Amino acid sequence: MMRWKSVSALVIHLSLLIAYASRLPVVYALADTFAPGEIWRDTQGIPINAHGAGFLYDRGTYYWFGEFKVAGSAGNKAHVGISCYTSKDLYHWKDRGIALKVSGDPDSDIADGSIIERPKVLFNTQTHMYVMWFHLELKGQGYKAARVGIAVSKKPAGPYTFLRSFRPNGEMSRDMTLFQDDDGSAYLVTSSEDNRTMHVSRLSDDFLSTTNEFHRIFVDQVLEAPAIFKYKGKYYFVGSHCTGWAPNPAVSAVSDSIFGPWKMLGNPARGPKADITFGSQSTYVLPVYGKKGAFLFIADRWNPGNAIDGRYIWLPIHLESEGFTIPWQTRWDLSAFPNFN
Ligand code: GAL
Repeated sequence: MMRWKSVSALVIHLSLLIAYASRLPVVYALADTFAPGEIWRDTQGIPINAHGAGFLYDRGTYYWFGEFKVAGSAGNKAHVGISCYTSKDLYHWKDRGIALKVSGDPDSDIADGSIIERPKVLFNTQTHMYVMWFHLELKGQGYKAARVGIAVSKKPAGPYTFLRSFRPNGEMSRDMTLFQDDDGSAYLVTSSEDNRTMHVSRLSDDFLSTTNEFHRIFVDQVLEAPAIFKYKGKYYFVGSHCTGWAPNPAVSAVSDSIFGPWKMLGNPARGPKADITFGSQSTYVLPVYGKKGAFLFIADRWNPGNAIDGRYIWLPIHLESEGFTIPWQTRWDLSAFPNFN
């Protein structure tokens, strides 16, 4: 029978061991799966902080850009900037730091306390610059300014230098995305006219401004959170209705041209809570490099009361003859795509 003395010695040894072990760098056994809505840790074990995401694929590496949020409702404004993470396989993400920092100058358009949302990055082959566009709201003006901001870098992970902010074609611009077509041309797709109608503008050759070639799409439909992808010559759209941070049914559409006319296809979400897009809102559709027909729906489950704890909803897009669905999965991996190997 074990005596009390040896039991307490064992307890002391165990607690010393635990205390020591907790000081060691933790090696996380990160699984090769996606678990939508669960806390997702980077390669250091810290929850990924990159909301309203945009992605870039560059020479074998995926770059994930997003809004770096702080805790509480303060996190709904920009106090740090745009973060960047990199991955080779889409499952394991390494923190590459802050790609675009808010400015300490209170007069800057990107001052601490401004609103910087939904960053999207493209590489420009003419200037060899990485160009970041984002939704910008000037400090202290709520969502009235309705501008885009542009920043550039010579390296994909940054640091990015802020260039300027403006209203594309003089028109309001809130939730936005960029889309680059097969021929290299790029487009801004943005909620304009106080969110009533979206505008698609072709970007200038250096991607630093819009051209005046712009079209109104989804006229009076009041949509936001746009994401575009292209498959077999057709353009697909996924977005949401406008209910602020609260989720609502997603919207999808298909077109032969990015400028429209777009044919509405309804809510592509399937499964539990499909009527509120699984409690999330679209931000991007990510093509898996080199795998035809493999597209990831990327969305945010916002948490405006504690913005840092917003979650990521990544799901496989299921392509159909005309259109697509997004079936819910609690855990999945890239083998979900047909012919994926
Ligand atoms: C959402 C939008 C978010 C953010 C939020 C603010 O509708 O998609 O990016 O702007 O409104 O309420």
